[in-house]
Amino acid sequence: MDFSLLLIEKQNGIAQLTINSPQTLNALNSALLSQLECALYELDRDEKVKAVVLTGAGEKAFVAGADIKEMAPMNAFAGHQFALAGQRVMLLIEKMKKPVIAAVNGYALGGGLELALACDFIYASNKAKLGFPEVTLGIMPGFGGTQNLARRIGSAKANELIFTGKMLDAAKGCAWGIVNEVFAPEELLPKALETAAAITAVGTLGVAYAKNAIATGLNMSKEDGFRYEASLFGVLFATEDQQEGMGAFVEKRKACFKGK
Ligand code: CAA
Repeated sequence: MDFSLLLIEKQNGIAQLTINSPQTLNALNSALLSQLECALYELDRDEKVKAVVLTGAGEKAFVAGADIKEMAPMNAFAGHQFALAGQRVMLLIEKMKKPVIAAVNGYALGGGLELALACDFIYASNKAKLGFPEVTLGIMPGFGGTQNLARRIGSAKANELIFTGKMLDAAKGCAWGIVNEVFAPEELLPKALETAAAITAVGTLGVAYAKNAIATGLNMSKEDGFRYEASLFGVLFATEDQQEGMGAFVEKRKACFKGK
């Protein structure tokens, strides 16, 4: 597969995936979406990778949205297909076994904010700007933004952001519950990698099942979510990681998890 629009670096169980098209502020065109989909799929299958940090190349942008120049001539059918292609990437991130941390280093607009919201959580630089400018282009978010933003911060705040097209700075994004933490630009990647490293040190299966329980449970009634959680909890007792983790606690030693 051609990954010419991405940079993929793997080290110590962490994959840093960088969208590398800074001349267009990393705008998501069809080629980039399909490269991202394949790269994420491969990273999820790579047993050596335990966490992914997703960021954008250049000083200005994480991703400044879907590619407006590619979308401008689209008809209704093409627009629908383009939304589905973007949504496939967002849903893949949600379904991945591994946590994906968005390190938002600049503009995260439209499809860019949708990409960040699809990740398990967002760290942002204090230079980041977040928003959904789609209505200023006569369209609406189409890569899952209406669904993921409302689920993340509630419909009232999602309505305000999406209906106005205004941008939030990182501090406001944090106050609104979109961003977990804000850092100085030079600290953003080290902090994201540090958190990813903390995740690689614990039981991979416990993390994967917890991710699944949270994402799946959000679309269930609370009682069904509890039932689902209990069944995944039970399955973990059939794994070596559970034996190792609890055995190490009892024997007062550091656990060495194998993800089995
Ligand atoms: N699509 C295509 N090209 C883009 C782009 C985008 N979303 N965002 C930036 N670019 C390109 C610009 O066209 C420009 O290229 P040229 O030099 O060839 O003209 C280059 O990136 C640099 O951008 P600017 O010169 O505009 O940089 P700036 O610092 O003056 O402004 C900005 C930065 C405010 C982010 C501005 O680029 C901008 O408003 N971009 C568009 C943001 C936007 O509307 N995003 C939503 C897209 S719709 C969407 O995402 C739909 C969906 O939900 C699926």
